[in-house]
Amino acid sequence: MAYIHISWVLIATTQILLSVITQVGAKIPAIIVFGDSSVDAGNNNQIPTVARSNFQPYGRDFSGGKATGRFSNGRIPTDFISEALGIKPTIPAYLDPAYHISDFATGVTFASAATGYDNATSDVLSVIPLWKQLEYYKEYQQKLKAYLGDPAASERISESLYMMSLGTNDFLENYYAIPGRSSRYTIDQYQDFLVGIARNFIKELYGLGARKISLGGLPPMGCLPLERTTNFMGGNECLDSYNTVALQFNDKLKGLTIGLNKELPGIRLVFSNPYYIFMQIIRRPSMYGFSASSVACCATGMFEMGYACNRNNMFTCSDANKYVFWDSFHPTEKTNHIISDYMVKKVLFQFLS
Ligand SMILES: *[C@@H]1O[C@H](CO)[C@@H](O)[C@H](O)[C@H]1NC(C)=O
Repeated sequence: MAYIHISWVLIATTQILLSVITQVGAKIPAIIVFGDSSVDAGNNNQIPTVARSNFQPYGRDFSGGKATGRFSNGRIPTDFISEALGIKPTIPAYLDPAYHISDFATGVTFASAATGYDNATSDVLSVIPLWKQLEYYKEYQQKLKAYLGDPAASERISESLYMMSLGTNDFLENYYAIPGRSSRYTIDQYQDFLVGIARNFIKELYGLGARKISLGGLPPMGCLPLERTTNFMGGNECLDSYNTVALQFNDKLKGLTIGLNKELPGIRLVFSNPYYIFMQIIRRPSMYGFSASSVACCATGMFEMGYACNRNNMFTCSDANKYVFWDSFHPTEKTNHIISDYMVKKVLFQFLS
């Protein structure tokens, strides 16, 4: 009798221990990404658009010096976040034929440079609209089910971390750049229009099984070197009006996350706000080891990106680690690394428990 009793205690204890270990070691099995050039790892290489970067000097500090289509000299934020969460050092692009479902099962990006929330934004340079990224995600779910089997795939779908990073292009490439939206909407109305699209997108994602979602905010977009260049009347300072719009839009996105967390049972939706850390880096570059934050490394650093940023330009800097910006619109790998580590420490760590 005594023996039986002890073995029951042992079994019970072991089970408790195992569940404690599983919880402590609770891991995010995959990161699934939607968005624009901030998180595109090469999807645009596979579609006919000029919004691409699969040529040197892009990628010159990436593994093997490879220009993958990431808009930086090296890795982008979701790569660093994936690594920090113990998954893998890079997240591949869904349309890249070099990768398969075995790779995508632990992380994939559907992002497309130059896209936005608004269909009219993705139309400007014929890139992948957000709704189409969700269609690709549905296709991915089918492949994942075939690969892992239904129960394991369902578990992975609900345990994965979903990241959304877009919105800058809706303002800079669309609203303020071409007529159309600005004649129909005030800037405040346009922001609400975009937030409505974000809301529907998150609800659809939730309906498909996603539970852990990070909604990314806008950077201080008035401080991008390209915007400073257009502000020559203002001494090439940051464009305050654009920064104000970014702050207003971020407030609305934050409000959206609060509302949806109440509305959708079991969802864990966080707002990942890069604005203040990014602004701090721009205002105090030397604190982070940078020497320049108002002009970019590539070419003259004032307006070049994509095809205008090419290997033949003799002005391109030799050490990108001294620059906050790689081209006139995108951060260097080092900036991406600092902001990603900050995001993991301040916001995303909560998904590990
Ligand atoms: C964007 O386009 C898709 C496909 O045509 C459509 O289903 C969707 O409603 C559009 N989104 C908005 C906000 O108009």
